[in-house]
Amino acid sequence: MAENPTVKLGVLISGTGTNLQAIIDAIVRGDLKAEIRLVISNRADAQGLDRARRHGIETMVIDHRKFASREDFDRAIVAALLARSVELVALAGFMRLLSPVMLEAFPGRIMNIHNSLLPSFPGIHGPKDAIEYGVKLAGCTVFFVTAGVDVGPVIVQAAVPVLPGDDEPRLAARILLQEHRIFPHAIALFQQGRLEIQGRRVIIKGDSPTPNSSPLVNPPVD
Ligand code: GRF
Repeated sequence: MAENPTVKLGVLISGTGTNLQAIIDAIVRGDLKAEIRLVISNRADAQGLDRARRHGIETMVIDHRKFASREDFDRAIVAALLARSVELVALAGFMRLLSPVMLEAFPGRIMNIHNSLLPSFPGIHGPKDAIEYGVKLAGCTVFFVTAGVDVGPVIVQAAVPVLPGDDEPRLAARILLQEHRIFPHAIALFQQGRLEIQGRRVIIKGDSPTPNSSPLVNPPVD
């Protein structure tokens, strides 16, 4: 059977970029057949830019404050991505909402990572909201971006127990380790042509019928 071609990625960041690093590491290890064509940050001081540069990946700063509207900002991003033939966009800690300009340019081809088990606790305080609510399982979600905040079809999730004494930084750090596993995995599924969006659901073609054989179920408790 012919292998699927390498997927051309664009990664959008705003900060630390540890998820970007996880994607880079998966590519270097050979677990993910992808090429990062461009990393865009809306902030010039994003640490993730250095991570990309260290690996010889092209970077670009597109400062949202320099644009009159969200749409104009997105148009600049879309132009940069299309000029590099990007096929899939990964939002890796990108802290801006997307307008229809981006969504229409990459329909079903924008993934985001969020640090809660969606649809619980959308927004920017997932781990804190999980602790305050008192849930026993928190986690993270990779989903296809649609209009609205953290509401798109779910691709992969990993659960993380909330432990006695957890505060936001401690739980967020434990969740982040799982983010680093599932984001490259979700991109690999896309590259392998195994994701099919059916309404709200994402069908993973060829997925094992026995859940316990999946590395993403019952992640190790640290
Ligand atoms: C992650 O916790 C992610 O869930 C959220 O922003 C954080 C990004 O971290 N959307 P990093 O920049 O990848 O280190």
